[in-house]
Amino acid sequence: MKKIILLAVLLGSVGIVYAAGSHKGEHHTKGENSHWAAPRNAIEQLNPVPSNSHSISNGLKLFAELCSRCHGDQALGDGPDGSGLSVKPTNLKAMAGGHPDGDFAWKIKNGRGEMPAWEDDLEEKEIWHLVNYIQSLSEHSPKKKSNHKHGHD
Ligand code: HEC
Repeated sequence: MKKIILLAVLLGSVGIVYAAGSHKGEHHTKGENSHWAAPRNAIEQLNPVPSNSHSISNGLKLFAELCSRCHGDQALGDGPDGSGLSVKPTNLKAMAGGHPDGDFAWKIKNGRGEMPAWEDDLEEKEIWHLVNYIQSLSEHSPKKKSNHKHGHD
């Protein structure tokens, strides 16, 4: 008898917690509050474009042309067109080096809300140039294979 009551109480509270949880975050999908996650297979995708100065400068050009109006010249999330949006453009510099290339690429391709999807407007290669540019803004050294002493390439 006691067991049954205990079980009922437990189930009841799970139900309450569940109901409370699903009320929040109207337009965000479940389990994800503010941060945005790309699907695992996209995150694991390797960057086919080497991050060299050629690629980074292409990325910089594209960024200045297409992205800085929202994300800001320094990718700090403070572009002039961002101020009127309901969701602020992300500070991409702060994310650089802390997220895999595939994560950025997927988000750039697919967009979300006020962030446009670029898949149809950009070539695959251009998306990776943008990723290389964003990663190059990292202040903490990006996770790279080599563990050599400091020193920029
Ligand atoms: C019209 C404004 C606008 C433009 C133009 C724009 N973005 Fe965004 N971007 C946003 C907003 C707003 C978000 C945050 C969306 C969210 O969290 O729902 C965002 C998010 C992102 C994210 C995901 C960050 C995260 O939280 O994981 C990346 C990456 C990104 N933008 C890259 C770019 C790149 C690269 C370009 C140019 C090709 C670009 N954006 C152009 C508004 C813009």
